[in-house]
Amino acid sequence: MNFISVDDVSKEQINSIFEIADDIKNGEAKLSIKENAVLTLLFQKPSTRTRVSFEAAMAKLDGRSIYLDMSTSQMSRGETLADTARVLSGYSDFIAARLFKHDDIIELANNSSVPVINALTDMEHPTQALSDLYTIREIKNKIKGIKIAFFGDIAQNTINSLMLAGAKLGAEIALAGPKGYQPNPNYLVRAREYGPVEVYNDSVEAADEADVIYTDTFVSMGKEAESEKRKGMFKPYQVNASLVAKATRDVIVMHPLPAFRGEEITKDVIDGPKSVVWQQSKNKMLMAESIILYLSEKNM
Ligand code: CP
Ligand code: NVA
Repeated sequence: MNFISVDDVSKEQINSIFEIADDIKNGEAKLSIKENAVLTLLFQKPSTRTRVSFEAAMAKLDGRSIYLDMSTSQMSRGETLADTARVLSGYSDFIAARLFKHDDIIELANNSSVPVINALTDMEHPTQALSDLYTIREIKNKIKGIKIAFFGDIAQNTINSLMLAGAKLGAEIALAGPKGYQPNPNYLVRAREYGPVEVYNDSVEAADEADVIYTDTFVSMGKEAESEKRKGMFKPYQVNASLVAKATRDVIVMHPLPAFRGEEITKDVIDGPKSVVWQQSKNKMLMAESIILYLSEKNM
């Protein structure tokens, strides 16, 4: 079993992963990985949280991790991804890959004999979505019926995974972005099979009754050439104090980080009392452990 998309896991499977996380959190972990298991991280883009949370998770599970920056691998000289996958899976028990193209992680998984985890592609960030939903569940004690409103670039990896996984678990999703700028239709249609996903051009309408306000960078990795255009286009969807005031009284503000203060979110909001971003980022390690344990069980 791989974890390439949130569509690889059912609602029941997500809940099982959350239960593993609860057990770890309560000091009652029931599962373990094989002694000295190796996770290889193959990364084509920068990372702070995902890389370190997975490496730390392997340390906590008494496994090992190996980080391979793709630009220093033989892929930089033309070795194929398929050959790389065959070789790395001979050394590893799991592979976590952060790649530009989603099709590449599928190619990697198709040529790997060990479970492949998507550590972010242009289409999805599934480990982030699970970690974020776990954080919401931790704070709000439920996910069903919770309104998650996302602002800004509504057609990118973080929100694709979050809307689909969130809808599966019964959250209500609101997306606010510029007129004519649509969410990815594949994720929107799939998410709507599970529950309501509304698209707004007006941030205030999207924020109404929101339990969670979520934003992400306006310029995802790989979109740097469009940086100025994006910053202008998404500016009206900035998460700021006046927007947060339109949501519920107990609203929490989330961001996967890295954050660009003054662009997608203001400093007073991300560093203010409604922000849960540090708890959110810390949970990535717990979720990394839980996903590794779950995949380990499934592939035994
Ligand atoms: N949230 C997240 O994926 O952060 P990194 O890019 O630092 O891994
Ligand atoms: N959407 C962002 C997420 C970073 C964690 C990006 O792809 O750069």
